Amino acid sequence: MKGNEKAIVIFQPSGRRGQVEKGKNLKEASVLLGVDIEGLCGEQGVCGKCKVRVQEGFFEKYGIESSRESLTPLTGTERDDLAESECEQGFRLACMAEVLHDVVVFVPEESRLGKQVVRKAAGEIDIPLDPAVKTYSVELPQATLEDSVGDWERLQTGLQKAHEIECPTIDYHALVKLQNTLREGEWKATVTVWMGNEVIRIQAGEVEKAYGAAVDVGSTTVAAYLCDLSTGELIATSSMMNPQVTYGEDVMSRISYTLTNPEGLEQLHRTIIEGLNGLLGDLAGQAGIQAEEIVDMVIVGNTCMHHLMLNIDPRYIGKSPFPPALHHSVDIKARDLGVKICPGAYLHVLPIEAGFVGADNVGVLIAETPYNEEKVRLIIDIGTNGELILGNREKLISSSCATGPAFEGAEIKYGMRAAPGAIERIVIDRESKEVRFKVIDKEAWNDETENMGAKGMCGSAIIDVLPQLFLAGVIDRTGRFAKDLETPRYRVVEEGAEFVIAWPRETSIDQDIVITQDDVRAIQLAKGAMYAGAKLMMRAFGVERVDEVILAGAFGSYIDKESAALLGLFPDCPIENIRSVGNAAGDGARMALLNVDKRSEANEWARQVEYLELTLEEDFDKCFAQAMWLPHMKDKFTSLEHLLPRKQDGKS
Ligand code: FES
Repeated sequence: MKGNEKAIVIFQPSGRRGQVEKGKNLKEASVLLGVDIEGLCGEQGVCGKCKVRVQEGFFEKYGIESSRESLTPLTGTERDDLAESECEQGFRLACMAEVLHDVVVFVPEESRLGKQVVRKAAGEIDIPLDPAVKTYSVELPQATLEDSVGDWERLQTGLQKAHEIECPTIDYHALVKLQNTLREGEWKATVTVWMGNEVIRIQAGEVEKAYGAAVDVGSTTVAAYLCDLSTGELIATSSMMNPQVTYGEDVMSRISYTLTNPEGLEQLHRTIIEGLNGLLGDLAGQAGIQAEEIVDMVIVGNTCMHHLMLNIDPRYIGKSPFPPALHHSVDIKARDLGVKICPGAYLHVLPIEAGFVGADNVGVLIAETPYNEEKVRLIIDIGTNGELILGNREKLISSSCATGPAFEGAEIKYGMRAAPGAIERIVIDRESKEVRFKVIDKEAWNDETENMGAKGMCGSAIIDVLPQLFLAGVIDRTGRFAKDLETPRYRVVEEGAEFVIAWPRETSIDQDIVITQDDVRAIQLAKGAMYAGAKLMMRAFGVERVDEVILAGAFGSYIDKESAALLGLFPDCPIENIRSVGNAAGDGARMALLNVDKRSEANEWARQVEYLELTLEEDFDKCFAQAMWLPHMKDKFTSLEHLLPRKQDGKS
């Protein structure tokens, strides 16, 4: 096939169409044509979320003939992922099917990507104001024949006299505007200085306001906060789904995308920078300012997001011994990365702890400051990659465990992101086994209204569902479905046992939403990894119990803490000492924006945290296997005694 031969691809029901190079897969075609198709595995044919159906026949409206032969033949991977009946009906995985000829493709409701409901609300922060960027007003003596010193030297002397600042440098963009600006303001000016060291902007006359942005670049969600640097006030918040998601849901699939595509790194870098510019524009729009008025910016993100944003090759953090390009924080001119804020402004990226414990974790660290406490805190940042911090003022240990994307909805048959239509709460009656559930953006529960329109389950429901099934006796402590269940919700189908959470009339996809035995296993694996990680960290620290558990992350504040405890996401801790703090990484970024000491604190503590590589702990597998049980095979949970069934014998 010639490289540049093209075919027409039409996506239904949106009707989006266009010419696409033959040989591109349908997922790539959807990106090119602006059609959002779900995909959580980075086009690896693993998640099975990108299901589409080929439409067959002659389409008069478009004047094209579409058939199964318009695409490359079904692959073995697709045969494994799709049911036989689906293969017969012409279903394909968009990431596997390549375009050969003109084709019409239908994207079913469950494969359409809903707009993510961003749950990264900003918490209250209380911190003394001392930003890295400050503004100073100066009034300079006019240049005369007797005093014709250069404008920059005149400004330096003015800053020294009025504010006792020795400012050795001026940004080139500010320098270019210096002469006219001074004269325009009749020698009165407002000077913006970075770290007391460099003039990054000069404005005519007296200008009161200066703005800064803090951004948390998550693998799935990017959250941004606009602050007034003169008062510390939070002016606006905005968020978006990380646009890199199209290239792979998790860190490893994005790293592999950069390895398998020659332009991959550049593509992923450009994608996030364009996304950031959109987000900054939105923040500025909300505040009624121009994005160029933002004079400082702090960014956090996991090590892979950090590297991709800085256009640094992430390949070495993807394999042992996982060294990042640098540990220390970094200050880069925003313009060097194409970030469209004040042209002289810097972008400060918080330091990295280890290959898989990034600047986002450092953000959590400086927001939650376990190093100032006597109590031993366990901080769990739940995401596709689970990051853990344990410690107090004596010592800090961090670790990272590959929970997999189950809590983000991937690898779960009806799992989905937190978007409209996602079930977010589940309660199962212990006697009748009837299910009550609530859907995002709807007030009523399913027993109060028929019109639920459920599409799948998001992370908070995925954390609810296992404890609820367990307490209702539907599964036992090992995660196996009970055999003698008398409820129409339980059945054994060709693929195995499953339990119905929502009936077709309660959904918008016209089919049962079920939780399968495989789903139960995937959730157990995710929670088991987290629990085992926490336990091994506690052993390394030398404690049997933790005093406090803090749940952080994109949906941290939406997790039901009792469900999380019953699931066995972490070792026993009194329920009243468990806190959900939401996006602590974003809070840490805001703190570093508003107080320069927090940047030094971040650098200092990022280096003092001891990293525990869990996979090197010889009994990790054993700990992991025991932690797969609900809530654990052996450990006692005195705090949950009133909730757990009395007999914990695996057959309850
Ligand atoms: S199977 Fe296609 S994106 Fe995951």
